[in-house]
Amino acid sequence: MSDTGLSQIWPAAARRADDGVLSLHGLTAAQLCGSFGSPLYVMDLDEVVTRARTFRDAAARAFSTSTTSVSFAGKAFLSKEIVRLLVGEGLHVDTCTLGEMRIALAGGAVGRSLVLHGNNKSDEEIELAVANDFGKIVVDSADEPERIAAIARRLGKRARVMVRVTTGIHAGGHEYISTAHEDQKFGIPLLPAGAAANDATAASLSMDTVASGPALAVLKDILARSEDLELVGIHSHIGSQIHSADAFIEAAQRVLRLREAFWATDGFVLPEVDLGGGYSVAYLDDDESMDIQTTLDAIADAMRTESQKSGLPMPVVSFEPGRWIVAPAGISVYTVGTVKPVHLSDGSTRTYVSVDGGMSDNIRPALYGADYTAVLANRSGAAETMHARIVGLHCESGDILVHDVELPADVRRGDIVAIPVTGAYGRTMASNYNQALRPAVIAVSSSDNEGSEHMSDAPRLLSEHGEAHVMLRRDTIADLLSLDLG
Ligand SMILES: Cc1ncc(COP(=O)(O)O)c(C=O)c1O
Repeated sequence: MSDTGLSQIWPAAARRADDGVLSLHGLTAAQLCGSFGSPLYVMDLDEVVTRARTFRDAAARAFSTSTTSVSFAGKAFLSKEIVRLLVGEGLHVDTCTLGEMRIALAGGAVGRSLVLHGNNKSDEEIELAVANDFGKIVVDSADEPERIAAIARRLGKRARVMVRVTTGIHAGGHEYISTAHEDQKFGIPLLPAGAAANDATAASLSMDTVASGPALAVLKDILARSEDLELVGIHSHIGSQIHSADAFIEAAQRVLRLREAFWATDGFVLPEVDLGGGYSVAYLDDDESMDIQTTLDAIADAMRTESQKSGLPMPVVSFEPGRWIVAPAGISVYTVGTVKPVHLSDGSTRTYVSVDGGMSDNIRPALYGADYTAVLANRSGAAETMHARIVGLHCESGDILVHDVELPADVRRGDIVAIPVTGAYGRTMASNYNQALRPAVIAVSSSDNEGSEHMSDAPRLLSEHGEAHVMLRRDTIADLLSLDLG
């Protein structure tokens, strides 16, 4: 614990005073619930901006002699205000559905700063991307170049495309967020069927093997359609919540082998290599947090060495961090309802603390077994603690928000608990299960936030040090009823 009363996983502006009251920029959790209702997602915009700048500047420093570009992965968290804020910091935005594209455009991003992903893009999505001159449309399967070219031709445009390559790297915090091994739906394989991508190292991949793989065939196809398609580069996203640089390095080396092979076969130097996202964050007090500068420095070193070996100039290197930028900037705040001690067969007791949200606003524990921690946020509580599990109000026993946490033994109905590091894949994965109303997202920031000119003019709750306003409003019963046409 530092003198903020909290560990390093909380936003820098969070404080837990001696009386246990949690605040962000001087606004207490109880004040936020009092003004905006409960439960809430709270997003610290200063923290978002600081982290975006840190990533952007770390990439520029690591690759000091070549150009870098950073796209924020909107799937982690998206709103018009976040788009305005991040575009204002020089970031691009990665989208993968019509909804994400529309929000990014409505947030003021110009098409050239947008990326379109997707393993099953609709014609409507491709048309919107082509019509708005998206910076990159990332080709995910062999039939896409023809589809994109036909749409570009019809619209009188030339579409900028990249090819997403599955390198065979198996990385990521959970099977469902590991995206570059062979048995999953994304991308185009680097190697021909039968070549053991998972066992090979970049160095052991022969040029002939790479040249005969599906990825290179798709690159050739795009080149043959260059009247309608501009080939921008190659892309590799290997997964999410990855803790070390090693897997990124191996993937980068493999895509550089492909770049070299394409130069050898077709005399074309691919201008850009996009390494996707996946950079990990600490969720628990004792988790190690990734030093992004060290990680990007290691990737840059390896890419420079590989490029020198190939005799090709360094490409533009781009990144798509989502979680790393927004996860630690977000906190979820809930009000406690039923508190129920349960006696376990080993003789111990676990107290189930039910709150007014649950798996509908944070599915990650149920989906990935993700672990979180929590604090009592409105008072310090008894010195004696209890083994608690924070659960939601849904009709599933797997409706768990925090599997194991020590809470004061006198936690009771009406208390407020806060869960840190919920800024990514919380609100964007939220559902209306049990016809739940998805919580509001409240933006908080310091009064002197430099990015404030990018913020909305919604009504503000003020403290001496900061302000809060609704960034995304809570669902209402009227919203639910309006979808139901009877
Ligand atoms: C293509 C792509 N890029 C970037 C990301 C962002 O990953 P993360 O939030 O782990 O940085 C994802 C996440 O699934 C992705 O699929």
